[in-house]
Amino acid sequence: MKIGNIDLGERPVLLAPMEDVTDIGFRLLCRRLGAAMVYSEFVSCDALVRMVNKSLQKLEVCDEERPVAIQIYGKEPGPMAEAARIVVEQAHPDVLDLNFGCPVKKIAGKGAGAGMLQNVPKLLEITRAVVEAVGADVPVTVKTRLGWDHEHKIITTLAEQLQDCGISALTIHGRTRSQLYSDQADWTLIGEVKRNPRIHIPIIGNGDITSAERAVEAFERYGVDAIMVGRATFGRPWIFKEITEGLKSEEERRQGAGTDDKVTDGTHPVLSLDWKVDILKEQVLTSVARLDERRGIWHTRRHLAASPLFKGIPDFRQTRIRMLRAETVDELFEIIEHTRELLHQMEQNDHVD
Ligand SMILES: Cc1cc2nc3c(=O)[nH]c(=O)nc-3n(C[C@H](O)[C@H](O)[C@H](O)COP(=O)(O)O)c2cc1C
Repeated sequence: MKIGNIDLGERPVLLAPMEDVTDIGFRLLCRRLGAAMVYSEFVSCDALVRMVNKSLQKLEVCDEERPVAIQIYGKEPGPMAEAARIVVEQAHPDVLDLNFGCPVKKIAGKGAGAGMLQNVPKLLEITRAVVEAVGADVPVTVKTRLGWDHEHKIITTLAEQLQDCGISALTIHGRTRSQLYSDQADWTLIGEVKRNPRIHIPIIGNGDITSAERAVEAFERYGVDAIMVGRATFGRPWIFKEITEGLKSEEERRQGAGTDDKVTDGTHPVLSLDWKVDILKEQVLTSVARLDERRGIWHTRRHLAASPLFKGIPDFRQTRIRMLRAETVDELFEIIEHTRELLHQMEQNDHVD
């Protein structure tokens, strides 16, 4: 599937934009592990227009992570168009994405992000202004939700209106703003948008993709052109490999394309326990190199805390607390190595059982 001229291949799996998560280090890692395209954290258009340093830093991209999308948010056409020009000039992103889905109060409550869903004429005006400002240079896309609340699930009409503004793809998170992150994502309306014969732009489905099985369902049952994975990447960036492997058809497998299970990447077979532990360590080191020791470790804590790798280890509570409190890389890696041994013991016990 293609966004503008960017070819993302068959059934692409994308890394969702996530504030405080999808910095350049994490994006690079996810690309290496199979994400077909990665998204930046969202960037405030007002801050960009004012040339605020912290926001300008979010525009840093490197060639190895391409294709990469930069996402901006705001609530007025003028600053959004100006910010779009700044993004294109400074970062040369492959895609420029507009955020009309952020539910958090300090954004949506002020009318930006998902708040735009309460002012569709303005949302469309912004989209047209940005497409006009940069659409000739970079494909403009939109990421949004089903609507503001249960009574206003406007996505089917909105998708057509957005397409008419000239966007090149639409990402739909299958929840309303009111739902925040509660309940299960509802993919039925995403499927409905995709089946609408008037819609010809790619539709990217998002919400609760946590396994290859869910990914297959998203493509086969709801017919989306791509899927986007967010929270399931926490402490599990290899989910891209798990999903892309899962999506490979039986036929491809039989034709000998094979899975990566036995392939060695560095010292360990891909997707083996040791390989996963090494990936998490690499993530810590990348983060430390980019920030500093204290902040780098802090930045990866969310991933260590959420990692499914450490779930189910007997009597792990104290070790886990130590892991999340570690302040130096040496201390943290010693705990991770101890955990690796525990995992090996578990694996051996499983085989004996
Ligand atoms: C910590 C966090 C930060 C997020 N930041 C953004 C963001 O900057 N821009 C955006 O469009 N969505 C953001 N989201 C929403 C995700 O992109 C995604 O739509 C949502 O998590 C649902 O997908 P999932 O079920 O795969 O996690 C964020 C979500 C989380 C959990």
